[in-house]
Formats: sequence, C-alpha cells, structure tokens
Amino acid sequence: LSRHRVAVLPGDGIGPEIMNVTLEVLRRVGEHFHVEWEFAEALIGGAAIDATGDPLPMESLAICRSSEAVLLACVGGPKWDSLPNKQRPEAGLLRLRKDLEAFANLRPVRTFPQLLDASPLKRDLIAEVDLIIVRELTSDVYFGEPRGIEFIPEGNGEREAYNTMSYRESEIDRVAKVAFELAMSRPRQQLCSVDKANVLETSMLWRSRVDAMAAAYPQVQLSHMYVDNAAMQLVRQPKQFDVILTGNMFGDILSDEASMLAGSLGMLPSASLGNGTFPGIYEPIHGSAPDIAGQNRANPIACILSAALMLRYSLKRPDVADAIESAVSAVLDRGYRTADIMSHGMQQRGCIEMGEAIVETLRESLRAP
Ligand code: NAD
Ligand code: IPM
Ligand code: MN
Repeated sequence: LSRHRVAVLPGDGIGPEIMNVTLEVLRRVGEHFHVEWEFAEALIGGAAIDATGDPLPMESLAICRSSEAVLLACVGGPKWDSLPNKQRPEAGLLRLRKDLEAFANLRPVRTFPQLLDASPLKRDLIAEVDLIIVRELTSDVYFGEPRGIEFIPEGNGEREAYNTMSYRESEIDRVAKVAFELAMSRPRQQLCSVDKANVLETSMLWRSRVDAMAAAYPQVQLSHMYVDNAAMQLVRQPKQFDVILTGNMFGDILSDEASMLAGSLGMLPSASLGNGTFPGIYEPIHGSAPDIAGQNRANPIACILSAALMLRYSLKRPDVADAIESAVSAVLDRGYRTADIMSHGMQQRGCIEMGEAIVETLRESLRAP
C-alpha cells in the first residue's frame, strides 16, 4: 500500500465540476492499485476571495507546501474581473507558481486518433502530432517590475500603463536545461526555441543562452523560430515540432493555439515543475470557462490527464498513469464525447457522465486478467 497526500484546488467556474470527476477517477485507480489518497482541499482564486478576501490564503499555500503534489483545476471569472490586479483570482495562481518555484510548465500536445474530426484542421495535418511545449512560468512580462497604471504628469488626466518584460540568464538557463533534457529523452531529439529576437532584448539574451547550452547536448537538433512564424507553423505543419521551448507569455498563447490540434482546449493537461524542492503543480491549460460553468458541459479530460501526469512525474506511478490514459482513450473509442469535442455520429455526454464512463472503463479494464 502506498499513501499519497495531494493538495486539491478546485478553484472557480467549471473547476469544481472537473475536479469532482477527476477525484472519482483517482479513487477508482487508488482502489485497484492500492494507493491510499489523502486529498487536502484548499481554496484558490475567486472561491478563496469570497471566503477570505485573498486569492491565495496562507493556509492554502501551507497545504500545498506540505503535499507531494498540487492538483489544480482553474481560476477566474467575471465576478472578480474588476478587482485590483493583485487581488484577482489569477494573481493567486501566479503567486502559487512563484512560491512553489514552478518555473517549467510542460504542455504536451498529442492528437487522439479518435478526435481528428473534432479539430477544424485537416485530418492528415494533425494525425500523429506529438509535441510538447516547455513554457517558462515564473518570469517574463508576467512578473517583471516596474509595472503599473498611472496618470501622466501634465497629461490632462491621461493615463499610461506599463509592464516590464525581463529575463535573467539563470532563469533562461534553468528552463532551457529542462527542454534540452526532455528533447534528449524523445525519439526525434529536436528542440525549437521560440522567441522574438529580431526585436526584444529579452529574446536576444534568451537565444544566446540557448545557443550556449546546445554544446552540452550534441545529440539535440536545435533550431530557433520567431514567435509570429511559430504561430503560423503550428497550424501549417504541426508535425515539424518535437519540443518547443519558449517564454511565459509566448508559451501561454501558443499552447492555447496548439490545443486545437488535439480538438479542444478541454483536452490539454500540464505539469508545472521546479527543481524538486517544492511539489509540482498539475493543471489543465484551460481556464474556468464561465460560459459553460454550472451546466455539466465541461470536458474533464484535461484535468484527468493532468492527474495522470502527476502520477507519472511526482508520485512515480507510471503504471497508474498509463491506466488512466488508456481509460480516456477507451472512452473515446466508445464514441463518448463532451460538447466541445462532439462530432457527427458520436454520443454527447455531460461532464459527470464522461467521468462515470471513464470510471466504468477502468472498472472493466482493471478487472480483466
Ligand atoms: P477559458 O479557457 O476559460 O475558455 C475559453 C473557451 O474554451 C470557452 O469557450 C470555454 O467554454 C472553452 N473551454 C475551456 N475549457 C473547457 C473545457 N474543459 N471543456 C469545454 N470547454 C472548455 O478562457 P477565457 O474564457 O479566456 O477565460 C475565462 C477565465 O478563466 C478568466 O477569468 C481567465 O483569467 C481564467 N483563466 C484561468 C486559467 C487557469 O486557471 N489556469 C487559464 C486560462 C484562463
Ligand atoms: C494559463 C492561464 C494563466 C496564465 C492566467 C490565468 C494567469 O492563462 O494557465 O495558461 O496566463 O498563465
Ligand atoms: Mn493560458
């Protein structure tokens, strides 16, 4: 019997719906693989603001720090959109990433053969896409100082807003190392670093540090691409990519774009990792989807696959992760679809029903000899 303490942060919008389903899946595999779960629930985002006035209360951070991993759904929503920046739900998430030093956000993009018709892109283009975005997560324009909105002196009441895009060499190096190591471990051993080095100093420094590191990884085939071109190449010929390394903001944008290769934003999981000092954060890449919250329409798969990544990377249970990933695939084989990945001839299901189908599939597959 193994015991694992996991911090569970449902957050806002569809968060609680997809997290409930994910915990059911974890309980089912737990029974079979003799994993005893301690789910330590904590508040984050709007839910935490409503309860305590703070999007990341001290208590939540303490729960996260004392767990082996953090499983987070999503935060934010129109209810909290007019709060000052530091008090917003999103600020709680950014603080959590920073406090846990989760500087490398791994966003794998794999197309399920069953979902090729769910994507607006052509079948041949997206079949067998298998890329991974390594997004820097604790620096860049998200965290750079100074930042603010101020009245311009003698500006007749006009205001000016500014943010600072900045990167230190050490911040570039540590995330680049993750990307090189990852590229080494994959069959194609390709790494494409994405930046805007034709314009930005941060990108010029980024490119030079990545180039310098390449000498230590002679097997890795390194290339550089400007982010505007990368956005285009992702839909023109996505199979050219193996590992993509990029900064915080470029990675945010490119990964939402890349989700459409997999058919939906509701399909992509992620792992936000540091150097091992603190627990990793496992989170779908999507947001709280206020437009469908509370309607049992959310796709729970991104969250479920995030839990599988947690089992693989933090809890060292690749066997259990495999079981979950296979069950997701089997349920897609059976034709079950949430609305976002629905296509002709398939059977539409709600978030809860999708979860039940995955649990049922696990029950059957794990019973088989
Ligand atoms: P979003 O990702 O919440 O939604 C974008 C679109 O994708 C919506 O139409 C939504 O219905 C759909 N979608 C997203 N996840 C889905 C799922 N699992 N199943 C089915 N459909 C899904 O982005 P947004 O609308 O720009 O932002 C909404 C809120 O979420 C904002 O407050 C934003 O700041 C926040 N946000 C949070 C995170 C996070 O917690 N990591 C990420 C992105 C956005
Ligand atoms: C994500 C989100 C967050 C980000 C927001 C909510 C702060 O878009 O996880 O991709 O930009 O990192
Ligand atoms: Mn995002």
